[in-house]
Amino acid sequence: MRFGLFDSGVGGFTVLKKIIELCPNNSFIYLADTARLPYGVKTTNEIMKIAEEISLWFSYQNIDAFLVACNTTNAIALDVIKKNLDVPVFDLIGSAASTIKKSRIGVLATPSTVKTKAYTNAILEFKPKTFVIEQSCPEFVPMIEMDNINSEEICNAAYRYLQPLLKQKIHSLILGCSHYPLITPLLKQMVPSNVELIDPADALSLKLKLFMDSKVSNYSKNKNLVDLKFYVTSNLENFPNKAKHWLNVFPEVNLVSLQKKGCVS
Ligand code: DGL
Repeated sequence: MRFGLFDSGVGGFTVLKKIIELCPNNSFIYLADTARLPYGVKTTNEIMKIAEEISLWFSYQNIDAFLVACNTTNAIALDVIKKNLDVPVFDLIGSAASTIKKSRIGVLATPSTVKTKAYTNAILEFKPKTFVIEQSCPEFVPMIEMDNINSEEICNAAYRYLQPLLKQKIHSLILGCSHYPLITPLLKQMVPSNVELIDPADALSLKLKLFMDSKVSNYSKNKNLVDLKFYVTSNLENFPNKAKHWLNVFPEVNLVSLQKKGCVS
């Protein structure tokens, strides 16, 4: 099967990696909207426009299902994406919310995601008595994109972001931006070991696997058959190195212009 997924940059790699683990032997088209990174400080209108352009572009890519690998777009513009695509759409927020077991939940996410309270609302829909506290982390994405993930700067930011949540004695911590699983080792060092870290990509990939099992009965588990196509909206030169660094693949990357719907320039 052929899947489409996108993010502002390398964040969606964390989703792609989990899906390849669980659903190998498929084709993936990954679009990184690097020209407009970061998404997490953009307005609702800007994110709606981005979602419109990206989903229209994917509507020409002949995909069997679409994975929203960006929480910010998921929180603000899931309806826009669903409207433009006539294939099943799998999202991070709804998938994660449906698997929450504990009663005190912390969420780290981008400022634009936190503003929507999308995680709180989705969790309360499944478990109405849950206590949810959300924390916006504006400094994380730029630092992760620069691979500045071992510095004092990011440790200080993580400390500041985590304190309000830890004071509330959370049981689980949702990594509500797809970039954040890339700093899991840092976050693990900073939260007590009894706080479980939740990567929404786990729930999304499980849902996708169930979908695949219902569609394709006998697919090969040979990971070598994964077919990856990468597209970016800028910075074509840097992206293969980023893919090598985070995914251990050195793919061909194409530049795409989203304004010219469906056309690769
Ligand atoms: N990784 C995306 C998310 O999950 C976007 C982050 C950003 O570009 O600020 O929200």
